[in-house]
Amino acid sequence: MNKKILIATAWPYANGSLHLGHVAGLIGSDVCARYFRLKGDDVLFVSGSDCHGTPIAVEADKQGVHPSEIAEKYHKEFSDNFLNGLSFSYDNYTKTSTENHYQTVQEIFLKLYKDGQIYIKEEELPYCSNCQRFLPDRYIEGECPICHFSSARGDQCDNCGNLMDTKNLINPKCKTCGGTPEWRPSEHFFLKLSAWQKEILSFISKSSNWRQNAKNFSLEFVSRGLLDRAITRDTQWGVPIPLEGYETKRIYVWFEAVLGYLSASKEWAKETGDENKWQEFWQNKNALHFYFHGKDNIPFHSIILPMILMSYGGLHLPDRIFSTEYLNLEGKQFSKSRHHAVWLNDFLRDFDSETLRYYLISSGPETADANFSWHDFMAKTNNELIGNFGNFVFRTLSFIKKNFPEGLKYPEKIEEKSTEFLDQIEKTFLLVGEEIENGNFKKALRSIFKIVEDGNRFLNESAPWTSIKTNPDKAAVDLAVFGQAIKSLAVLFNPFLPKTSAKICHSLGMNSKDLKWQYPEKGVLKVGDLEVLYKKIEPEEIEKQLEKIES
Ligand code: MF3
Ligand code: ZN
Repeated sequence: MNKKILIATAWPYANGSLHLGHVAGLIGSDVCARYFRLKGDDVLFVSGSDCHGTPIAVEADKQGVHPSEIAEKYHKEFSDNFLNGLSFSYDNYTKTSTENHYQTVQEIFLKLYKDGQIYIKEEELPYCSNCQRFLPDRYIEGECPICHFSSARGDQCDNCGNLMDTKNLINPKCKTCGGTPEWRPSEHFFLKLSAWQKEILSFISKSSNWRQNAKNFSLEFVSRGLLDRAITRDTQWGVPIPLEGYETKRIYVWFEAVLGYLSASKEWAKETGDENKWQEFWQNKNALHFYFHGKDNIPFHSIILPMILMSYGGLHLPDRIFSTEYLNLEGKQFSKSRHHAVWLNDFLRDFDSETLRYYLISSGPETADANFSWHDFMAKTNNELIGNFGNFVFRTLSFIKKNFPEGLKYPEKIEEKSTEFLDQIEKTFLLVGEEIENGNFKKALRSIFKIVEDGNRFLNESAPWTSIKTNPDKAAVDLAVFGQAIKSLAVLFNPFLPKTSAKICHSLGMNSKDLKWQYPEKGVLKVGDLEVLYKKIEPEEIEKQLEKIES
C-alpha cells in the first residue's frame, strides 16, 4: 500500500498582497509534495486563503467595503500567485469562506461543546466607546507584558511570539482611534486547553523530526501551563456559532482556520467523487502529516490544533512541524506600511519563478533568520543557477545534439572515475530523499549541486570538444556519462525546480510527469529541442528594484 501523505501549508490572511517573506515559510511544502509524489506515495497537498479574522475586518473598515470583498479579491490573487506563478502543486487550494468549511468547523465546535471541551464564560473585554465596539486582537495594541515590545497585539506579541490575554497588555490603545478602551463584560466560548496539559506535553515530547524551533517553543509554552483560551470574538465576520443567542459573535481563527486543513481535505474528496476519501488521510494511523508555516504560527499547529483533534477523537495528529524563521529584506524587516517589501505579484511579473524558488530554498530562513538582498539574488541566479547548473546542462546537451544527432548509446565500458561519479549520483537519490523528509531542504539542494560542480569539473577535464577530433570514441563515452548525470539531475531537481526539470525532460524526449524518484534507466540519449534554462539578470534590473524599496 502506498503511504498517505498530507502536506498542510499555512493559510495566508486575505487582507493584502503577499510579499516574499510570506512565501519563505511555505515553499518547502511544494518540494515535499512533489518529492513524495515522485516516490509513488499518495499525496494530499492542501491550503487556502484565510478569509476571516480581524486583519481583514480592519482592512475592510479602512476601505469602507464588506470584508468578503477584500477576502475574495486577495483569494483570487493568492490562487494565481501560488498555482500559476510559483507552480505550487496543490491538490486543493481553497478558502475559509466556503459552506464546506463552515460545516466542518461547526460540527467540531458542537461536539466539543457537548463534551464540555468548550464552555461559556463571561469575561471583561476591551471596548472602545469612540468606535462603539469590542476590540478583538489586532484592533488593540499595547506593551507586551513578557518582552515589553511596545506594539504587541491583543492576542499575540509579534516580537516574542507569545500568546497572551489582552488584559495583560500594558497601556492598551484602540488601534483605530488611539483611545483608551474600557472593560465591559461579554460572553465567550473557551477551549479547555488546561485539561490537556499532560496529553499535549507528551505529544510534543514524543514528536520527532520537528524543526528545533517548533519543538523548543512548544515545550516551553506548555511548561508554563496551558490556559483555556477564548475561541470566539465579538465580530460579524467569520464562522457563526452554531447555537442560538450568539448572533453577534463568530468563531475565531485559532479554532477555525486551523481546521481548514481538514475541511480542505473533505472538499477535495467531494471533488474526486469519493466523499469519504479524506478518511484515508485523517483516520489512518499510518498516514504522515507535514505542516509548514512561519514561526509566529507554531503554537497553533503544535498545541491548539492537536488538542482540537485529540478531543474530537479519531483524527490524525501532526507528525512533522516545519516552522521557518523570518526573512528580512536588505537587512531590515519587511514592512507593508513603510513600503519596505518585495511584492510577490511584481516579482513574478518581472522574474522567472524558478529563480525565486531556488533563492528561497537555498538561502531562505529554514532554521535561522535570513535576508533577501537583490544583489545576492542576482549573484545566486547568475553564478549558481546559470553559471554552474544551466551551463553544465546546455554545454553537454548542445554538444551531444551537434555531434550525435542520432543519439548516444550508453557505452558498455566506462572509466573508473566515471563509474564513481555515477555511483555517487545514484546514492544522492537516497540522501536527498532523507533530507527532504526531514525538512532539510538547503542540505538537499547542496547535495544536488555537488553533482553539478563535479560534472562541470569532469566536463572541463575530459574536454570532449578536443577529444571529438582526436579520440571520438572517448568523447562519446564521456558524453554519455554526462548525459546520464543530466537525466538524473532532471529528477533530483524536479521537486525544487519543476519548470526547469520539465524543460530538460523535453530536450531529452521524456515527459516530466513520468519521472520517478530513482536513478534513471541508461538507454539511448537523444537530444531534441534545446531551450535555454534561464535568462541572465542584468545589474540595471536590480538597481530598478532597489529604487522601489524605500530605505
Ligand atoms: N491566517 C493566519 C496567519 O497567517 C493563520 C494561518 S495558518 C492556519 O497567521 F492554519 F491557522 F490557518
Ligand atoms: Zn477606538
